[in-house]
Amino acid sequence: MTARIVVTRAIPEPALDELRAAGDTWVSPHDRALAAAELHAAIRGADAVVTLLHDRVDDAFLDAAGDALRVVANVAVGYDNVDVPACARRGVVVTNTPGVLTEATADIALALILMATRRLGEAERLIRTGEPWAWSMTFLLGTGLRGKTLGIVGLGQIGRATALRARALGLEIAYTGPRRAGESVEAELEARYLPLGELLETADVVSLHCPLNDETRHLIDAAALAHMNPTAFLVNTTRGPVVDEGALVDALRAGAIAGAGLDVYEREPVVHPGLLELENVVLLPHLGSATVETRTEMALLAARNVVAVLAGGPPLSPVA
Ligand code: DGY
Repeated sequence: MTARIVVTRAIPEPALDELRAAGDTWVSPHDRALAAAELHAAIRGADAVVTLLHDRVDDAFLDAAGDALRVVANVAVGYDNVDVPACARRGVVVTNTPGVLTEATADIALALILMATRRLGEAERLIRTGEPWAWSMTFLLGTGLRGKTLGIVGLGQIGRATALRARALGLEIAYTGPRRAGESVEAELEARYLPLGELLETADVVSLHCPLNDETRHLIDAAALAHMNPTAFLVNTTRGPVVDEGALVDALRAGAIAGAGLDVYEREPVVHPGLLELENVVLLPHLGSATVETRTEMALLAARNVVAVLAGGPPLSPVA
């Protein structure tokens, strides 16, 4: 019987071509996240669903899909939108897209580090106001990075790629996470492991790369921010809820930290209104993986996971 494949939002054509060759493929005609009722109606009877990071895959989703469902292929490396144990209980394979977005996301982390420390967002906004400006010895001075310490929270693939870029800027690397990296990784980056509290006290820039889960939700809360130096910067390219956004607004407002660069938000796409008023924060609309090449690779990997599972083989990138 022909497999029924549901794609919850348009993905690049090369990936759709591979899915169409594998089964009867329905692609949502809407260029937006489907509301829960629409999503549940769309996936009824599906053998495979290609999901995006805004689709909630939970018991209600699995009930709506029914017993035919064999694979949920999430087009993202993060899979906090998927209830993996619920899928496992029903024998549904879950896959994500690691590796293919590592470099693009690390580029954005580095961009945010530079934008925040060199006040580039503020500078660009100033020019656009049309206000007169002139070069002076003290005009819009930023913070230099050479010899300073980048604290990486979560030295996975993206954390490591960010650290490598930061080394080229002359930053020293400290990192924290649930376990030590291998000796070769520590040696390549000349990275030292520190417990979170010490890392926050030491780092001039803290960059978040841990996945969002029960352990990391609000990892950076008021208490964590209080450990940071008033001259330090926070950069987040992972998931918004890793940071307590209200506490971050308070810290930025009070000068408890010097600035922040954010690509992700706690209630995405809503941005905390307090952030919008502050000059010392750079705000990007979740662009980490947003290159044509990367999005195509992500979609192809998701499609190939679907094809592999429907063919009875092992998925290419199952989640742990
Ligand atoms: C991911 O893959 O988790 C990214 O956030 C998508 O841009």
